[in-house]
Parts: sequence; C-alpha cells; structure tokens
Amino acid sequence: MAKSSKSFSCTECGAKHSKWSGRCDACGAWNSIVEDKGISAGPPSKSLGARRGSSVELTDLATQETPPPRAQSGIVELDRVLGGGLVPSSAILVGGDPGIGKSTLLLQAAAHFAKSGLKTIYVSGEEASAQVRMRAQRLGLADAPVKLAAETNLRDILTTLEAERPQLAIIDSIQTMWADNVESAPGSVSQVRAAAHELTSFAKRRGVAVILVGHVTKEGQIAGPRVVEHMVDTVLYFEGERGHQFRILRAVKNRFGPADEIGVFEMTGGGLAEVTNPSALFLSERGQPSPGSVVFAGIEGTRPVLVELQALVAPSPHSQARRTVVGWDSGRLAMILAVLEARCGIPFAGLDVYLNVAGGMKISEPAADLAVAAAILSAREDAALPAETVVFGEISLSGALRPASQTENRLKEAQKLGFTSAIAPRGGKAVGATGITLNTMSDLTGFVGEIFGAG
Ligand code: TYD
Ligand code: MG
Repeated sequence: MAKSSKSFSCTECGAKHSKWSGRCDACGAWNSIVEDKGISAGPPSKSLGARRGSSVELTDLATQETPPPRAQSGIVELDRVLGGGLVPSSAILVGGDPGIGKSTLLLQAAAHFAKSGLKTIYVSGEEASAQVRMRAQRLGLADAPVKLAAETNLRDILTTLEAERPQLAIIDSIQTMWADNVESAPGSVSQVRAAAHELTSFAKRRGVAVILVGHVTKEGQIAGPRVVEHMVDTVLYFEGERGHQFRILRAVKNRFGPADEIGVFEMTGGGLAEVTNPSALFLSERGQPSPGSVVFAGIEGTRPVLVELQALVAPSPHSQARRTVVGWDSGRLAMILAVLEARCGIPFAGLDVYLNVAGGMKISEPAADLAVAAAILSAREDAALPAETVVFGEISLSGALRPASQTENRLKEAQKLGFTSAIAPRGGKAVGATGITLNTMSDLTGFVGEIFGAG
C-alpha cells in the first residue's frame, strides 16, 4: 500500500488528518490545518535512552514505602484545586486567555513553593529575567528563593534543569518553547507537542514536578494547549471575564484529586488575592429582591458556592426572538424554555430571554435548572421570589424535579450567608440543616403553581 509520508494536524484541537483541507472535520475550525514536520518519525530521540522495558506486580508496589507527601504552596485556593497540594513529579498544564493572569499566578505560586522549601525554577520564554524580577518586586516577592531562567530552546532548558535539579519547574509558556530537532515554527502543533512530551517525560524520569503554561487562542495561529491535555496529569484552566476582577482556577482533569474543583482569586494591584468566601463575593452586588433575580445554591467541586442568576424577559422587536446566555449553557436554556412551554403551558414565543450569571461565574451543574426556571418565570411574571430564598434542583424533560447532590451542604452554605428558606426538589437528603425552611416540590407545574400562583 502506498503510504503518504506527510501528516497534518489541526492547530485548534490537535486532531490528526491524513491530508490538508480548509476546514477541520473534528472541531469545525477554518484554516487551522497545518503539515506536521519532523515529528512523524516518532518522539525525539532524547527521550529514548538505553533503558529496558520491565514490569512489576501491583502487589509489590503496596509493600514499597509511602510516596513523598504533596507540597503545599500555602495559597489555599491553589492547593485545593491541585487536590490538596502539588504531587511530586507530576505534570500540570495551566491554560487560559492571554492577559488573564497566568504568569502572575504562577510567579506567586513559585515564590510560595520556594519559601516552603521546594527547590523551584521559573523558566520564562516570554519575558527577560529582569522583567520577571520586576514583576516579583511589584508582587512583594523579590526575596523568594526562586531560580529564574529566560530560555526558549528546549535543549538548553533540559540542560539547565539537569544541572539545577529542581523539585518544581514552571515553564511559561509552552508555546514559546522550541525543539531544534523539530522543523516547524515555535508555537506550531508539532513544536508544542514535542516540547510538552520532552518536559513531561523529563519530569517523570527525574522526579521533577512541571507546570506548563499554555495560552488558549481562538485563532489558529498559536497551537491551543489541547494537544497537551492528554500528556499531563492535571489540567487547570484560569478563567475570568474582562471587566471583572474575579479569576477562577478550575480543575478540568486531575489524576490526583477531584475534577471541577475551583479556586477563586481577585486580581488586585498587588497580584492575585485569595477569595476564601466566594459566595459572599458573588452575592456582594445583589440589591433588594427584584423580579428576575434568583440565588442559586450550587456546588463547585467539593465546595458550595452561591451565585445570583439574573433574567430578563421582554417582548421581542425581532421576527425571531433572542435567547442570550452569559455563564450558562444556551442549549440547556432552550430545553428549560421548552419544558416550561410543553409541561406548564407557559409560552415564550415572541419574547426575548436573557440570562446572566452574576460576577462572571460560569455554571455547568444541572442543578441550576430550577434556579434558571425560577429567574425566567420571575422576570416574565414581574414578580420577585420570596426574600432570602435559595433555589436548586434539576429539571427533567417530563417536568419532574430531580433531587440534587449534597443538598445538606447547599443548605448549610445558604444558612451561613443569612438565607432563611430554600426551594428544592422533593427527596434530597438533608438531615442536619437547621434554620432553613425547606420548601420541596416534585414537579415544575407544582413549583409554578405554588410560587407564581398558577402562572
Ligand atoms: P499576566 O499574568 O501577565 O497574564 P498572562 O500570563 O495570563 O498573559 O497578567 C497580566 C494582567 O494582569 C495585566 O493586564 C496586568 C494585570 N496585573 C494586575 O492587575 N496586578 C498585578 O499585580 C499584576 C502583576 C498584573
Ligand atoms: Mg504570561
């Protein structure tokens, strides 16, 4: 069989293609497919030493000494997202939009880890060491025993790491690194993949934890860090809305801890400050109870977080009514509107529906369904919900309400923040929650009837 020697991959999603085309089948991006050069001959030879394959019995491992403990940075929000601290010789990817604060966060983390006794090196491919030092000064961290290096050549970096033997190496960013045995330009998929492969295998081989910084861009110019995601143990995304000070560090994959865990930070003049009580922060802008505003008692990872949902429903001037969502899934909104129409007989034709999660927070939990429905109905009926009430619960297509997980934790958090009642599906497990009047319902029709008087 004639075999093409060329291979191609998408700079957006990393999908492999046997031939070039204008559009990637896998992710739908245009003009994102480029030829892979050099990498198709297999991984760079540097990682293929003279070592032999071998295996061990699983039971043998159990008798070995316990693994070294996780390192704590002392930044509680970061340690929690890592699953309780940094696992030795693990590989971590921190992705996020340019300018969101990745370098700031990691310089602060480097300083904290170094101060706690971990030998740490921060390799910047974007800034000169003097610039990094200036930033550290601004952050009040100039005295931290962090080693700095400004390099982009992978070979030089590996030599530096080999000589320094750090316990933690931070690489900012993976897109600026280039391997001289790979032909394509820095930032291309081949380069990003080769650099990430070299660095992660170095980490495992030498017992160094590595944190790779990756920029996420919509345009295919710079390879998205998605090609790196499967090579690392932990993937964290640093998110935030422009115009908001809040930044959320979210674990989307973690071999050593719960995924979906979040850490909340606030960008200040002196760097990122930890937000230990995110509920208070997300509710801080809330005014008097008003139509369209509902407080959702959510769970992010292992932690309860209260957020305000805001809805606006208005007659549409357009031939096709608008549905606009910020911070939630638009498909899920369409589903809830359809259930309200079909099961409760409440029409939304000719009405624009806007939904916003306050504070720049993004919610993915299905338990937000009932809170969304409550916000939309409250806006449509121009009737505020009872004051100091939180809402949660999943809505099924039949209109039945499904109990949410961790009902008790949600109620406790609500109580802590001064709420006095909750609307939730029947059947949720809550034993010890006191002080909160729990109003449970089994279907959406019952909810509409009780809260909005028949709808
Ligand atoms: P940066 O960490 O450079 O972002 P990234 O590495 O993700 O590209 O953060 C850049 C932004 O953060 C920049 O717009 C300035 C702002 N910033 C502060 O507000 N306070 C600070 O103390 C620092 C260091 C940065
Ligand atoms: Mg940066």
